[in-house]
Amino acid sequence: MDLQGQTAVITGASTGIGAVFARELAARGADVVLVARSIDRLQVVAEEITARHPVRAEVVAVDLRDPGAVDVVAERVAAAGGRVDLLVNNAGFATHGDLVGADPVRLADQVRLNCVAVVALTARFLPAMVARGQGAVVNVASTAAFQPLPHMAVYGASKAFVLSFSEALWAEARPAGVRVLALCPGATETPFFDVVGTRDSVVGAVRTPEQVVAAALRALERGRPVAIDGRRNALLARGGRLLSRRMLVRIAERTMRPTPAGT
Ligand SMILES: NC(=O)c1ccc[n+]([C@@H]2O[C@H](COP(=O)([O-])OP(=O)(O)OC[C@H]3O[C@@H](n4cnc5c(N)ncnc54)[C@H](OP(=O)(O)O)[C@@H]3O)[C@@H](O)[C@H]2O)c1
Repeated sequence: MDLQGQTAVITGASTGIGAVFARELAARGADVVLVARSIDRLQVVAEEITARHPVRAEVVAVDLRDPGAVDVVAERVAAAGGRVDLLVNNAGFATHGDLVGADPVRLADQVRLNCVAVVALTARFLPAMVARGQGAVVNVASTAAFQPLPHMAVYGASKAFVLSFSEALWAEARPAGVRVLALCPGATETPFFDVVGTRDSVVGAVRTPEQVVAAALRALERGRPVAIDGRRNALLARGGRLLSRRMLVRIAERTMRPTPAGT
């Protein structure tokens, strides 16, 4: 995919999958706008990119839970010269544990970041892509999107939202020549699990963020609506369709059940 001279906005670009997206897109010639809260980490990624590739790397330090954050990103994009050719909605986080006893603010924050910000950024940048007849949006969902997720109920629901939203937009934007992809990684080796605070939710072999981003770029080139990284992850995610929802959620409950402390 030749992204020479194009501009990519990547949220959650300070670490993990987002930072790898930023590096890969810059390696293909894209100017990058890196969005996250940690200005220091964003600057490290930006400096590394501009040292290696002849592209521009802007950093935007915002908290995407804030309703005004999308305006800040849009203003910075406009100041940097204008249009967004590729939007990667990657910022997200999860909590683990039952809803009873969970911090309601952290639960709502997951919906704000994983869903509301994704909708707001897509609604801001997709219309111009459709008008131009060119561009792409990658929304990072998860294999968590394919079944209800007891003990991570809000996270699972938030990623089911991202998957459904993205597939619908794939169909809406396709006639205009704009690509929309739901990227569904399984467990991936990033600081994600430090934020979750446990590895109890790790299912299957852990993949690298480089593998995840490569899967996304392959699927984007082929115009696919959904990319599940890793064969085993794809088998598990799609295989769930063969079971009743009741059976599926019971299996998911056993898989996601927190291990007793100290075991
Ligand atoms: N790792 C996995 O196993 C896995 C599996 C499936 C799906 N995913 C999804 O992949 C995406 C990326 O996760 P990751 O694994 O790369 O995790 P990560 O390393 O923890 O990265 C999360 C990114 O989101 C940013 N972020 C968090 N809260 C934010 C906020 N309020 N405003 C703006 N940016 C914020 C973080 O930067 P700051 O802290 O600097 O803001 C960071 O750049 C997420 O949507 C996650 O749900 C991950």
